[in-house]
Amino acid sequence: MSHHIAAKQGDIAETVLLPGDPLRAKFVAETFLEEPFCYTDIRNMLGFTGTYKGKRISVQGTGMGQPSLAIYGYELIQSYQAKNLIRIGSCGALNKTLKLRDIIIAMGACTDGSMNRITFNGQDYAAIADFSLLQLAYEKAVGSSIATRIGNVLATDRFYGDDLEALKPWTDHQVLAVEMESNVLYTLAARYGARALSILTVSDSLVTNENLPARQRESSFEDMARLALDVAVE
Ligand code: HPA
Repeated sequence: MSHHIAAKQGDIAETVLLPGDPLRAKFVAETFLEEPFCYTDIRNMLGFTGTYKGKRISVQGTGMGQPSLAIYGYELIQSYQAKNLIRIGSCGALNKTLKLRDIIIAMGACTDGSMNRITFNGQDYAAIADFSLLQLAYEKAVGSSIATRIGNVLATDRFYGDDLEALKPWTDHQVLAVEMESNVLYTLAARYGARALSILTVSDSLVTNENLPARQRESSFEDMARLALDVAVE
């Protein structure tokens, strides 16, 4: 058991899917995994392990924001020997060529948050996805005729308060979308010897101010979870 995860050694698979919402972790486990069991419910941040296409896979809620994800990511890698961390999350589009429900595979992740500034003494670190996971996700998406965009995202510390104008430095540099976790996920994986990838669905657009209705949010989450699971079992 680690500070925030109540699993026993061996309970957590080498490959872990990471939704922000613990109920999404439960949904993925109950919908897609065979014989899932819940290995932790500390703080209601649920985690499950089961099998998908014959391979053991875990799915762990991370909460929202970089500090929260960093706690679970660190403990998964350091205390439970997780090797592959695949975030499945949502994002806000910063680019008018993106539509609601589009899937973005984050090749890189910038941040306006302070975690990496602390780690790198105020200097910048280019946080990037693991190329082998990225390539696999791209190939699986093409194979299933799922259209994806691959590029840079911004992990912000603020959900509220940033409009498109405030985010102009990022959009001027081709950042596709905003979310709240991927930069620290990629940094942690690099630091502690794991592989990481973020797959994101567009749930809202800061360009058009549209939001995905709850039902469609669910079905686009399912498409993304299936893609992540297909990557996970390779
Ligand atoms: N901002 C930050 N995080 C997000 C957003 C957003 O607009 N949409 C989904 N995650």
